[in-house]
Amino acid sequence: MKWALLTLSGIALILVFSGLAIALFVTETEKGQHLDNSQLLNDKAAVLTNNAKKVVIVFSRSGNTHVLANHIAELHNADVKVITAEDYSLGIHGWIRALYDARSHVASITPEKLNLQQYDTVYLGAPIWLYSPAPPIWQFAKNNAFTDKHVVLFNTFNSKFEQHFIDEFESLVKQNGAVSFSHQAINRGRMGNQLSTQDMLDTYNQHYQGVSNGY
Ligand SMILES: Cc1cc2nc3c(=O)[nH]c(=O)nc-3n(C[C@H](O)[C@H](O)[C@H](O)COP(=O)(O)O)c2cc1C
Repeated sequence: MKWALLTLSGIALILVFSGLAIALFVTETEKGQHLDNSQLLNDKAAVLTNNAKKVVIVFSRSGNTHVLANHIAELHNADVKVITAEDYSLGIHGWIRALYDARSHVASITPEKLNLQQYDTVYLGAPIWLYSPAPPIWQFAKNNAFTDKHVVLFNTFNSKFEQHFIDEFESLVKQNGAVSFSHQAINRGRMGNQLSTQDMLDTYNQHYQGVSNGY
């Protein structure tokens, strides 16, 4: 009995330490990516125009989807607007919260709404969390009307998303008035073996540059 208890507590300790080691590895890697991406975003800040017809709205935790957002904006002469969500800040606390909420469609975001009147096309970007677009982009899509607009959802991810979540997102934006919907997704590869930022943008160009999306 005593041996069984000792073995069980040994296994529990190993599991706790492995969990902590994984969390530390992932969050430190994310911080490194965020630093590199911030540098890129500072070097090449998105320019807001007065008369753009397209807008790229993005939520990004470690900066990869934000870099892609700026690239898409550059390709399409679009404005860029960033959604933030304090609950999912970098570090272990924000990461655990992100994992916990990953499948939720509710999030506390800033801004909650944007004036989209001048735009005919709205790009909505977010990372994939537990196979689904991250909660802040669902919350934004719920809060805003897309009447007569074309909506393009774009995601970056490491390995996998599930199509039924994308289909649900399409229904949501169409309920909110969108006249068309398309989805763009870039697989960056698993941590430790990921595409460089330049390769991510090149992959985007190969798949989506020049794709008319119907507008
Ligand atoms: C909480 C959490 C859950 C994730 N779940 C998935 C997942 O299910 N599938 C996947 O391919 N990538 C997953 N990822 C990886 C992110 O989608 C990927 O690193 C993305 O490019 C990060 O974008 P960002 O830098 O804009 O935040 C997850 C990341 C986090 C933080």
